[in-house]
Amino acid sequence: MSAPNELNANLSAGDCRMAKARKRLIVALDAPHAQAAMELVARLEGSCQWFKVGLELFTAAGPSIVETLAARGHSIFLDLKFHDIPNTVAGAVRSATTLGARMMTLHASGGPAMLAAAHAALAGVVDPPELLAVTVLTSMDAAQLSAVGAERTPAAQVELLARMGLAAGLRGFVCSSKEVAALRSLAGPEGVLVVPGIRPAGGAIGDQKRVATPAEALRAGASFLVVGRPITQAANPAEAAEKILQEMATAV
Ligand code: C5P
Repeated sequence: MSAPNELNANLSAGDCRMAKARKRLIVALDAPHAQAAMELVARLEGSCQWFKVGLELFTAAGPSIVETLAARGHSIFLDLKFHDIPNTVAGAVRSATTLGARMMTLHASGGPAMLAAAHAALAGVVDPPELLAVTVLTSMDAAQLSAVGAERTPAAQVELLARMGLAAGLRGFVCSSKEVAALRSLAGPEGVLVVPGIRPAGGAIGDQKRVATPAEALRAGASFLVVGRPITQAANPAEAAEKILQEMATAV
């Protein structure tokens, strides 16, 4: 049997790992309107700190949803995946920065000039949000890439886009767990690598293609995991989040 002090030390190590896991889980609030999103947040905010506002919710609820969540003390990942001419993307990045999001996305495939303009738009901003370049969507496989004229493997395309992002001054990327180890070597310890397509073992994959379990993605080098449906569509979202956090805690 463990001595009491040893038991306390073990407990606090476990608590510490859970606290670390909480800082690295982002729940995708893919909800059709603000009320549905806020109901989910109310159920999850006891265990989750990061929430992702994406196209569905932002289009329905507008920028105020980001401000509301940030004012409630949450860390917000604004996932609008900007992809336009450099001047327009730079303006969108400036506008998004005023909302209080801590991370935001743009498509690396927008090209070097677009990435550089977005990066330059944050020059001089105090405590700027992390700009994340989306490499290849986790819903795309080699056949989907080929259909849009990219004949490389997903891994090779991700690497090409990440090198482009690094050259433009970015250090943050969204990729699948399959490429995260290679991107960690490229971006180094300062790289911010955000991995969606996370599915607990045996979970429904849905439209995702390049998936991994929470522990696999963290062990491969992910900084943050994005989890949507396995939590938001669960009968008990808070319980589902807690299970995922427990698995993450074994790998942080
Ligand atoms: O429900 P699921 O866990 O598949 O949700 C994943 C979330 O991550 C979605 O909100 C999706 O927009 C986002 N995402 C992704 N693949 C990327 C970038 C973001 O699935 N490459």
